[in-house]
Amino acid sequence: MSKKASNFQKVVMSWGYRGKEIFKPLNTGWSDDLDFVFVHRDQVCNGLKRQRPHDPNATYNGYDEREDTEERARSGRLKKAVPVPDRIQSAYHDSKNIYDDILTLGSFFSRQYIRFFWSGTDDNEIARKILAYVPNDFSGKLLDVPVGTAVFTEKKWRSLSKAKITCLDYSADMLEQAKKRLEDLEHISFVQGDVGSLPLDDGSQDIVMSMNGFHAFPDKKKAFKETFRVLKDGGMFIACFYIKGKSKRTDWLVKSILSEKGWFTPPFPTEDQLLRILHKLYSEVEYHVDGAIVYFKCTKGTLRGI
Ligand SMILES: C[S@@+](CC[C@H](N)C(=O)[O-])C[C@H]1O[C@@H](n2cnc3c(N)ncnc32)[C@H](O)[C@@H]1O
Repeated sequence: MSKKASNFQKVVMSWGYRGKEIFKPLNTGWSDDLDFVFVHRDQVCNGLKRQRPHDPNATYNGYDEREDTEERARSGRLKKAVPVPDRIQSAYHDSKNIYDDILTLGSFFSRQYIRFFWSGTDDNEIARKILAYVPNDFSGKLLDVPVGTAVFTEKKWRSLSKAKITCLDYSADMLEQAKKRLEDLEHISFVQGDVGSLPLDDGSQDIVMSMNGFHAFPDKKKAFKETFRVLKDGGMFIACFYIKGKSKRTDWLVKSILSEKGWFTPPFPTEDQLLRILHKLYSEVEYHVDGAIVYFKCTKGTLRGI
């Protein structure tokens, strides 16, 4: 048992639960292991949802419902536990009306926020750079995940009338905003879903674009796997997102506020960790850092994979 295990953890572990069944839902580490909060029969599902909100068919290793009795929950000082709502849905529901303004530096407040916490990194500028990786006459298949409100991509996606674009997001509220912007266009379709389980065939996409998504995705390993899987050989994976270790101020904000609220979900890779993943998966990597944001374009070669 880890030295850091709390008394609470020790009690529950003494009931026979293994160390993997940990109690810090935000401390999931780089693994596929299931972490969940053991609470009460009716609440365990909510705890699971919090960790794996998008995978209702997953097997819940280590959880035996027969042992999840009310008596145990009560004796384990778990009386105060409350049902946990779906963090991502509720976080993006709450912010849907201010999201565009903050990210596009649309107000005095958002400009100060970006200057102070994000080293002045302008998301408009990064979006412009990564959208320029998509040729103006692109006519293949493109997946935009997560599309969010399409605030950065609307203009470009409108112009690519010969392409077939799939806009996917987990948040129904964010997707609704994207639809308002783009649903009049036949070459664009909308899917509410999980990047960790994409409803697309292997090798079906010429480009996968992921703008500001990986810092929000709860299961990053699956997100890397899935975005790689649906790309065809020679296809491009284009993305930008936050990485840890570039700015103490940004790291503090992300850990103490954005992750707490559910807009971001740890763990976050450092630059070295991310580069290792990208080089393992992709044959060509063009990579840049601006403040605590990384943006890149990768090409999928043959014989690569996780
Ligand atoms: C910071 S926003 C980025 C949206 C947009 N690309 C942009 O740059 O404005 C993060 C988005 O990730 C979505 N998201 C979080 N987890 C997801 C998942 N597992 N699958 C798909 N989308 C997810 C959220 O709903 C949210 O819309």
